[in-house]
Amino acid sequence: MNAHSAPQAGFGIPFLTGKQVRQGFIDFFASKGHVFVPSAPVVPHDDPTLLFTNAGMNQFKSALLGDNREGWKRVANSQKCIRVSGKHNDLDEVGRDTYHHTFFEMLGNWSFGDYYKKDAIKWSWELLTEVWKLPKDRLFATVYQDDDESEKIWQTETDIPHDRIMRFGAKSNFWEMGDVGPCGPCTEIHFDMGDPATREATYKDPILGVNGPNARYIELWNNVFMQSERMQNGDLKPLKNQNVDTGMGFERVVSVIQGSGSNYETDVFQPIISQIAKLSGVPYSKGPEGTPHRVMADHVRALSFAIADGATPGNEGRGYVLRRILRRGSRFARNMGQREPFLCKLVATLAETMGEAFPELGQRKAYIEQVIRAEEERFMRTLDQGLDRFAKIAAEVKGKTQTVIGGAEVFTLYDTYGFPTDLTRVLAEEQGLTIDEAGYAKHMEEQRERARGAAKFDGSFASDEGWTLLTPTLDSEFLGYATLHAEVAARRFREHGDQVMVVLDKTPFYAEAGGQVGDTGTLTGKPGPAGTPCVELRVLDTVKVFDMVVHKCDLLGGILSADTMKSLTAQVDQLGRFRTVRNHSATHLLHSALRKVLGEHVQQQGSRVAPDSLRFDFTHFQGLTAEEIRQVEYEVNLRIEENHKITHAVHGIEDAKKMGAMALFGEKYGDKVRVITMGDVSMELCGGTHATATGDIGILKIISESSIAAGVRRIEAVTGLGALEAAQRNQNALGEVAKVLKAKAGQESEKAAEATARIKALEKEVQELRQAQARLQATTLVAEKGRLMNGATIIVYKLEEKAFPKESVPMLLEGLAGHLRNGVAVLTQTSGDSLSIYAVSGKEAQAKVKAGDLIKAIGPVADARGGGKPDRAQAGSKSLDKEPLVLAEAEKYLKQALGG
Ligand code: SER
Repeated sequence: MNAHSAPQAGFGIPFLTGKQVRQGFIDFFASKGHVFVPSAPVVPHDDPTLLFTNAGMNQFKSALLGDNREGWKRVANSQKCIRVSGKHNDLDEVGRDTYHHTFFEMLGNWSFGDYYKKDAIKWSWELLTEVWKLPKDRLFATVYQDDDESEKIWQTETDIPHDRIMRFGAKSNFWEMGDVGPCGPCTEIHFDMGDPATREATYKDPILGVNGPNARYIELWNNVFMQSERMQNGDLKPLKNQNVDTGMGFERVVSVIQGSGSNYETDVFQPIISQIAKLSGVPYSKGPEGTPHRVMADHVRALSFAIADGATPGNEGRGYVLRRILRRGSRFARNMGQREPFLCKLVATLAETMGEAFPELGQRKAYIEQVIRAEEERFMRTLDQGLDRFAKIAAEVKGKTQTVIGGAEVFTLYDTYGFPTDLTRVLAEEQGLTIDEAGYAKHMEEQRERARGAAKFDGSFASDEGWTLLTPTLDSEFLGYATLHAEVAARRFREHGDQVMVVLDKTPFYAEAGGQVGDTGTLTGKPGPAGTPCVELRVLDTVKVFDMVVHKCDLLGGILSADTMKSLTAQVDQLGRFRTVRNHSATHLLHSALRKVLGEHVQQQGSRVAPDSLRFDFTHFQGLTAEEIRQVEYEVNLRIEENHKITHAVHGIEDAKKMGAMALFGEKYGDKVRVITMGDVSMELCGGTHATATGDIGILKIISESSIAAGVRRIEAVTGLGALEAAQRNQNALGEVAKVLKAKAGQESEKAAEATARIKALEKEVQELRQAQARLQATTLVAEKGRLMNGATIIVYKLEEKAFPKESVPMLLEGLAGHLRNGVAVLTQTSGDSLSIYAVSGKEAQAKVKAGDLIKAIGPVADARGGGKPDRAQAGSKSLDKEPLVLAEAEKYLKQALGG
């Protein structure tokens, strides 16, 4: 055990481990009739508006807004959260204080139209003070300024001293999910970490006290009374139900219970921190010197959980956030003297500490390590390149006798090379330079704009505003497993840019999910009163936005109105859907074939199933050999040929897993799941559409296999006619090759190998001939043009291009270098618009004449620049007329150097 094995309960609270706190919370609420719901993945695959899960309520958003399909009444959980933006979550601050994190757990309990303020407040007080025995005189309650009811409940249902119930405004006591969405007044519980003797004087101070920017009074628990929905125009609309949504910072409450004064001092972080100290040899300190340990311990948690749930570091969106987190952690490791990947070595300790509560960490440990290691290696290379780049930028700025590094350069260093701005600033200062702060800020803002623009939908889609409503409900029955055609009615529609978004009461259109692309097709209205054209919409894509199935359409004709949209004929493009269906079924066969051929470690990482092709990403550590690809193709096609029936059935999630159905990591499944079975070949949880038998796929052909991230491979394949087309393309290409090689069918590769070998042999022969010729030329040149000067042979000579073609000169020089011992050659040649000067100095002659020095000395007479080594050197000039001067100057130089 580590240093935390004999903790001091600093506030006199009975000690509990982190595990006991988490379990205690869940057990407590179970005793009050709450059902445990596992944490949603920290990577919200189905919410385009959210980068990472950042609150326990994310997965309950629809239920809070009134669409409670699961029929939840009371639930509790511990949610994995990542927050890396927002006013209190500046990445650059994490690790410098005791309580900010990128990754944290949020303990929460919820009521969906069941209990309300009274029980919520009473139970939170009971858990904190009676079960966990937090000292009552260190606790404070805050309530929203208008919320008399909550204040009254605190006064009558708990024994908190009344002057410790404080009212605050909307900033701290009215919780909102975002600009629009569910919201309501909240009551928070704060804890005083400070010295009781000074409490009375501080707790009402806006800076030193509760809700002040200090680490003395920390917020432990937020109880939100979700009763409204914020609309786009700022109005509040009452919700159907009065709900409770609470969130308690797990790491904070553990730190209070363990009396450690800092989240990082608890048994949640200490094992990782000890490991960092052990591996780096740098002891941990609670003060500023411990910042690197805290940063790394924090960051490895965010990285590991996000990667376990299917995210990977990259250049966009989530991937980019992860890359920034990793680079920050990695830089701290580097500052500690680590030159090898370091963060990846902490994953095992994290998995030991948290693997019980979150089994995905243990199950995917090797994979997480690989991804982090590869990304760290990549960063190290980038950092070195960045330092080079910085040196160049600094030299350029100085070269222009300026002192400011431009904003664009600072931004590139940040964005491409991962240089935090403070690093660039420090490097600049060392060189006596500054950076253009305003220009840099402008580039950052532009980047943020780009990031915002990239989000497919804004939060406003969650609100009723902007829509024309025919019926208030949002859900659509999906008919598309059984039919591609239906008579339907719009529930709501709106214009969005130049497209029309339509939600239907029921729909045969499949909305993009699980890698399968959304259906395309048409929606057609009925002719209206005489002369009114019917509305005609081309469905370009079908997507899920929150819980709505949205048909994205082009308006081809007619007029949009509640009237024209109430009765529509929906028709999915048949051919497209049939092709998609074949490709989707093929991915299941591919998945099972890969596991059979490569091993059980193969896990699906993602897929894209479209009409024209399929893409399947999976974990595997090296490229597939040609033989493995052949085996996988063979295995899949054998299963196609066997024509297994494809069946689907709905099961409870636990039953499905027990049956052995394959589920995806990081995917959130409901209680009821659809299981797709293909004979005894494959069984997977899947909501997509499938063929009726594997034979429908026709044939599968793998088109490419590549790496997309560390430890993740991608296969692209085609099926049916697409496979035929691919085979035809290949055959045509081979035919062309055969023609060129004059090969008979089946002998193409033999012929090609023969041809390549012959080319190689000929190249070698040519090379040898050229060398022999050069040697001969060199000998002739020395014999004919060589003169003796003080015992040394010298040649000062203009090479006519006719006798010595330019491309043969290097060979000639080579020959001279081999031939000259106590000799020096200075040669010139004009070719086109350039004059070249060459010097060769033999081994013995170099004592007196170094070719490089000679060139430097004589070059200036022809404005020639150049240089070289003692044995060989050359220079070039555009002053063709200076050739005689060069030769004369060489003569002079040699005379002097050789004493001739
Ligand atoms: N939604 C509230 C929060 O995030 C309470 O869970 O703080």
